Amino acid sequence: MTLDEKVDQLLQLATFFYEGSYIDGEITGPMEDLGINQQTIHNSGSVLGGSGASEVKSIQDAHLKTNRLNIPLLIMADIVHGFKTIFPVPLAIGSSFDLDLAKKSAEIAALEASVSGVHVTFAPMVDLVRDPRWGRVMESTGEDPFLNAEFAKVFVQGFQGDDLTADKHRVAACVKHFAAYGAPEGGRDYNTVDMSERQLREMYLPAYKAALEVGCEMVMTAFNTVDGVPATGNKKLMRDLLRDEWGFNGVIISDWGAVKELIPHGIAKDKKEAAKKALEAGVDIEMMTSCYSGHLVELVEEGQVDVALIDEAVLRILELKQKLGLFENPYRGANEQLEKDVIYSEEHLQVAYELATKSTVLLKNEQVLPLQKDQKVALVGPFANNTDILGPWSWQGSREKAINLQQGLETKLAASELSVAPIAEIEKVTAEELAQAIEISKEADVIIVALGEASEMSGEAGSLANIQLPQAQLELVSFLKKLNKPMVTVLFNGRPLDLHGVIDEADAVLEAWFPGSQGGLAIADLLYGVKNPSGKLSMSFPYHVGQVPVYYNHFNTGRPQGAPDAQVRYVSQYLDIPNEPLFPFGYGLSYTNFDYSNVKLSSPELDVNGHLTVNVTVTNSGQVEGEEVVQLYIRDLVGETVRPMKELKAFERINLMPNESKTVSFKIDEKMLRYHHTDLSFTSDAGEFEVFVGTNSQQVVSHIFTLKK
Ligand code: BGC
Repeated sequence: MTLDEKVDQLLQLATFFYEGSYIDGEITGPMEDLGINQQTIHNSGSVLGGSGASEVKSIQDAHLKTNRLNIPLLIMADIVHGFKTIFPVPLAIGSSFDLDLAKKSAEIAALEASVSGVHVTFAPMVDLVRDPRWGRVMESTGEDPFLNAEFAKVFVQGFQGDDLTADKHRVAACVKHFAAYGAPEGGRDYNTVDMSERQLREMYLPAYKAALEVGCEMVMTAFNTVDGVPATGNKKLMRDLLRDEWGFNGVIISDWGAVKELIPHGIAKDKKEAAKKALEAGVDIEMMTSCYSGHLVELVEEGQVDVALIDEAVLRILELKQKLGLFENPYRGANEQLEKDVIYSEEHLQVAYELATKSTVLLKNEQVLPLQKDQKVALVGPFANNTDILGPWSWQGSREKAINLQQGLETKLAASELSVAPIAEIEKVTAEELAQAIEISKEADVIIVALGEASEMSGEAGSLANIQLPQAQLELVSFLKKLNKPMVTVLFNGRPLDLHGVIDEADAVLEAWFPGSQGGLAIADLLYGVKNPSGKLSMSFPYHVGQVPVYYNHFNTGRPQGAPDAQVRYVSQYLDIPNEPLFPFGYGLSYTNFDYSNVKLSSPELDVNGHLTVNVTVTNSGQVEGEEVVQLYIRDLVGETVRPMKELKAFERINLMPNESKTVSFKIDEKMLRYHHTDLSFTSDAGEFEVFVGTNSQQVVSHIFTLKK
């Protein structure tokens, strides 16, 4: 390869650069903006996008004709929670605590994407999130490092399978956004991230590392700074940590435009310096800007950049192409017939349905749910018949094919039992709409109010300072409340909300998130008790936005609120609101009751080389079958550094018939007790630990054991 060809192999452009005039015509528009010519496109290494087998095949064909060395393109796209069959958003999947179904969803996404010509997915997104103002919390599985790591692994395994070369219906995974993108100051997207290295390693890095440990092929950088250096130009993060310490040898790609963004960040004066910094820091592929294409050749010729760095990056990309079998079959899984056969198959829709039922969280229920079939229902609100329920990052999903709540309810109820008063806008209720909502509600036995956020209110660049529902929706609730009828609220949204104005007014609240293609069906079955809610929050719901960040695995202070010797004033507290979130991590109700009893440790002592067992009996003492996520947390009571009040260490989802009991056993060993000490060593402390078992991070039974070293 010539130096030009090598450098262009590092460039990733969107599909539209591969169409018509960009290939053969004049240099205008985006091409002119990037300062590139057709030859650069002919030499380029990968494409962002790819929405169908025939499109991808024609791009690949045209490319192979013009690429001197016949090097096929890698086709990469964001397949985040499904390709065409859309699953609930990842924050919802996190709330399912169901690793098997999550893995299945990734397998299906991989199959649908691969038959449509995609080779690599920009997923999983595993950024730990604590601030619901940040719109991208919906892309993450939540606030817990252990839960995120568990999901990271199954997503990667689902996408990639066991043998990427042999199985062309899998896609390579690209874990993102390295690193700590989930902690932007003020919850404002792209904003500064600054934290201690200890905190980074304790909380933020485990999920990326878990993805790589199961073989994730690629890593994407983040837009933010980490310790004063943008992640995309951060040598310490990429060369020192990813490559040297973790031994990652796969491809690192910048996020969209992030190499050039080193200029506004203020660590590069121009595109040339940005190229040098990003390459030296470890970025192999530059996405959507042309700092590399425009300047790396010159930098090598001037002796400013070692060509070995370019060779290394090119080799990694070619190796990935080889692993994916592209030199033998540049179309890989792309197959028009299979697109017809597998996309939106019954089986795929069934998994989307199951996952939506398991990730929906019942937040409140004052004896109104499940509904009875003989009740007359008024369905009102902006999500009554809205199909904007797929959520952000569902660019291939079809809203027309999504089942909305009304359609779901129609499968349960005769037309005479269901009246609907939809509201056209998210932020506005007209006088006529309000009048109609009130009119049908007056006639009904129960009101279902379907509220929420439009999908563009979360996701990338979807930060909000106010995380209450739009004022117009809150007013609608208060008007309906005056009717004194049982009121059930169903929420469609991408972030934990401040639920004031809803939580006290409604008799029941079901958090449906953005539930995906089968959402309406799943919610209707939950409302009528065909399915029993079993989702548990993967992220705390704040009592008020002023608490944010509020998360369960926080430290104690020196002046904790509620301590026996606490003073009235000089304790760590707000004067106007509680310290606790409205709903904690792990919280979620069911239509049945689960009693926890006989929580027992096999021994009060844990030997450093041994293990102990925690047994708990869980009994379904209610009337209906249900699933429960049994959770185990640990606190190191005296550490070298302050340790979180609780840390999730294990969980199990179990199914119980009425009156049935099961004993769940969790194994604890010394490895689970390790953490990063002040010198960053990852070790444990001898001494006392508290182990908690329960139905959420607050309602627990606890015991003490001692680690002997
Ligand atoms: C997002 C990434 C995404 C990329 C490509 C960026 O704006 O931050 O998560 O993978 O675009 O679509």
